[in-house]
Amino acid sequence: METLQLPLSILLSFLLLLLPTSSIAQNPKCSVQDQGSTLEVLHIYSPCSPFRPPTPSLSWEESVLQMQQEDQARLQFLSSLVAGKSVVPVASGRQIIQSPTYILRAKIGTPPQTMLMAMDTSNDAAWVPCSGCVGCPSSAAFASAKSTTYKNLPCKSPQCSQVSKPTCGGGACLFNMTYGSSSIAANLSQDTLTLASDPIPNYTFGCIQKASGSSVPPQGLLGLGRGPLSLLSQTQNLYKSTFSYCLPSFKSLNFSGSLRLGPVGQPQRIKFTPLLKNPRRSSLYYVNLIAIRVGRRTVDIPPSAFAFNPTTGSGTIFDSGTVFTRLVQPAYIAVRNEFRRRVGPKLTVTSLGGFDTCYSAPIVAPAMTFMFSGMNVTFPPENLLIHSTASSITCLAMAASPGDLNSVLNVIANMQQQNHRVLYDVPNSRLGVARELCT
Ligand SMILES: *[C@@H]1O[C@H](CO)[C@@H](O)[C@H](O)[C@H]1NC(C)=O
Ligand SMILES: *[C@@H]1O[C@H](CO)[C@@H](O)[C@H](O)[C@H]1NC(C)=O
Ligand SMILES: *[C@@H]1O[C@H](CO)[C@@H](O)[C@H](O)[C@H]1NC(C)=O
Ligand SMILES: *[C@@H]1O[C@H](CO)[C@@H](O)[C@H](O)[C@H]1NC(C)=O
Ligand SMILES: *[C@@H]1O[C@H](CO)[C@@H](O)[C@H](O)[C@H]1NC(C)=O
Repeated sequence: METLQLPLSILLSFLLLLLPTSSIAQNPKCSVQDQGSTLEVLHIYSPCSPFRPPTPSLSWEESVLQMQQEDQARLQFLSSLVAGKSVVPVASGRQIIQSPTYILRAKIGTPPQTMLMAMDTSNDAAWVPCSGCVGCPSSAAFASAKSTTYKNLPCKSPQCSQVSKPTCGGGACLFNMTYGSSSIAANLSQDTLTLASDPIPNYTFGCIQKASGSSVPPQGLLGLGRGPLSLLSQTQNLYKSTFSYCLPSFKSLNFSGSLRLGPVGQPQRIKFTPLLKNPRRSSLYYVNLIAIRVGRRTVDIPPSAFAFNPTTGSGTIFDSGTVFTRLVQPAYIAVRNEFRRRVGPKLTVTSLGGFDTCYSAPIVAPAMTFMFSGMNVTFPPENLLIHSTASSITCLAMAASPGDLNSVLNVIANMQQQNHRVLYDVPNSRLGVARELCT
């Protein structure tokens, strides 16, 4: 499939185009609201985000095409994780951009330097671009020389044996990794990480020295996976491997959600489904999706479409980095057909990029219920539809998993999670979802 290649800045303009123009002119208060163990979560296009593009320049249609392609890259990345490959296959000459969708403020060092790091539930590691980095995005890097608590970890440190294929340089533990289309070379380092009001001394992270490609988030990444060296494993005593977030809708003016770390203050009235463990991909949060209801009808989907298989990696995950939910082919086709039938079989259906169910006339859409083991989650149309205010096109904001990647993964993506609190309770091996307006 041939897709459009456009620079990141253009892609970033997409969400702004969805906003009424008056809101762009407004200057909302961007005061930091991080308190206790709760951090504000911003969409990357939030008026308070420095990564917001200066002026929207693309049409809505072109931007959506771009965003879909972006998601394709994410899917490719996740599929490579599932397959246990360390290197993502990237077609030559193809630039894969993997922009983070949600960012939060973390402070590193003494005195603390603020970094706006991307939040990624499907990654374990934390890493930031460090001063002097060759090939890192130009915006703020962490100046390790200015921190009195920074140190490079020695090659013989226990942490060094937890990174894959470490090398030794002047006694320091160095490692290389890939993220999206980027290759990253970093020092394994330690410093104080401060999240909201919580200082975490001697936090182990990657200090990026060299990067290629365009996938590196501008100010680093905070992995919320559950593997070794993850935030969860390094803050066992403090946060007990428990966190929740509410992702703000990108359509709202305020744009601010929250990441709440630790068991304190988590919602009590919330429905849970068991988390499944894939030893081959310990960082991914698998759940058991059983069926999908569109309106009042449970769609006929072969059970194999949802089957969890640690060997092939098939099953369903919750992911904070993919924008639009993906279902394996037979599941998507069945859901889409029922959706079309409910919306009106006589209406003309068009496609837009990777979306194949779009309408140029106003529609009344059904809600969808995703049935997980022990938990039904009903998504209202606002979590299912993407509208263009400019050209009055509405699309079902889901797609089939890319067939060419042989993808076996269903991904519950961030647009569908918006305005819900998603609770990751690893000690009790369960994931909770409750509706919450956090925008
Ligand atoms: C990373 O390690 C190399 C090799 O030991 C060293 O030259 C460099 O100064 C280190 N970077 C930082 C930020 O400490
Ligand atoms: C890691 O990356 C650096 C910089 O690109 C390169 O010089 C080095 O050879 C790589 N190391 C390994 C083990 O691949
Ligand atoms: C952090 O590391 C330093 C030296 O490497 C050590 O003295 C200190 O006790 C450690 N702090 C904590 C809280 O582990
Ligand atoms: C933004 O949020 C504040 C409270 O946090 C609320 O008072 C205000 O009305 C909101 N503004 C918009 C435009 O939604
Ligand atoms: C989910 O909905 C289905 C169909 O309405 C129902 O049979 C099932 O009991 C519900 N599950 C839970 C956990 O509420």
